[in-house]
Amino acid sequence: MIGRSILICGASGQVGQTLTERLRQTGRDVVAFDRRALDIADSARVNQVLSTSRPSVVVNAAAYTAVDQAESEPEVAHAVNAEAPRQLALACVNVDAALLSYSTEYVFDGTKAAPYTESDPVAPLNVYGRSKVLGEDGIRASLERHVILRTSWVFAPGRSNFVTTILRLGLERGTLRVTDEEFGCPTPAGDIAEVSVALIEAMEKNRDMPWGTYHFCGAGPVSRYDFAVAIVREAAATTGLTIDVVPIKSVEYPTPAKRPLNAVLDCGKIARVFGRTQPDWRDPLAQTVREFHCNRMVGR
Ligand SMILES: NC(=O)c1ccc[n+]([C@@H]2O[C@H](COP(=O)([O-])OP(=O)(O)OC[C@H]3O[C@@H](n4cnc5c(N)ncnc54)[C@H](OP(=O)(O)O)[C@@H]3O)[C@@H](O)[C@H]2O)c1
Repeated sequence: MIGRSILICGASGQVGQTLTERLRQTGRDVVAFDRRALDIADSARVNQVLSTSRPSVVVNAAAYTAVDQAESEPEVAHAVNAEAPRQLALACVNVDAALLSYSTEYVFDGTKAAPYTESDPVAPLNVYGRSKVLGEDGIRASLERHVILRTSWVFAPGRSNFVTTILRLGLERGTLRVTDEEFGCPTPAGDIAEVSVALIEAMEKNRDMPWGTYHFCGAGPVSRYDFAVAIVREAAATTGLTIDVVPIKSVEYPTPAKRPLNAVLDCGKIARVFGRTQPDWRDPLAQTVREFHCNRMVGR
């Protein structure tokens, strides 16, 4: 099957863009579509594009990721995160392609006292999480040859994410209040791309590979507060600027979407099956902070 192309949807997102670059570096034939070129909620167009490209693997890196905004736009979140992945999976059946799709730690309610495994029951607290659960279910019901990779707290240089939000608001305000009750694992998009390249290789080589759902995120759970402190320390080292971070409780900073307090994923399964260990996020964090600083200096 190697020789056929790999088709990526959502190619201008953090994961989509990083993965497209990595795959092209390996010399693979990658057909990459951003939202403008392929709206995954347009199933007729999805079918047309897949029939033309006939890829071996389709990667769904497209998603509606505005967690708070989803509370007031549930139909859009549902169309992109729930219905579109199901249609994408059905389109894959038509062209005999496998599907790699990403999901989130927000499928869980965060009440477990330990990291979440793939077999733990889902119980999302917000619209975004519910839409992602339905997307997962639609893929499982439609296509056997799929991998759903759940991840958390994704960041990449040059993109909008928790790291750049802390830096932007920190520079504006000088002091930030961040919850020390939410725990999770920051995950560099570069490491998601790397593990995705390995998964795609396995998906192409072996029709009987262990398909299904896997967790993958960075090493060492931290609170949002601890992560913010790591970000501003890195900024101080890079730029000499000081941003104060004050720990608060989640109730002191209400958001439209409720978030799980324990958003830590157990990554034992992907380690056992594919030998993939959880990456350290500190070097990629330094790179993201440096790039934010450079962009600021040149007024981007
Ligand atoms: N970001 C996180 O912290 C996080 C955490 C856990 C799981 N995940 C999951 O990881 C995956 C990748 O996330 P990410 O961080 O790379 O997100 P991202 O940077 O927000 O990228 C998502 C991409 O999807 C595109 N998109 C939105 N609606 C679309 C549509 N209808 N058709 C085609 N493309 C569409 C967006 O286009 P525009 O750029 O035009 O908006 C964007 O480029 C997603 O499945 C997400 O749910 C992310």
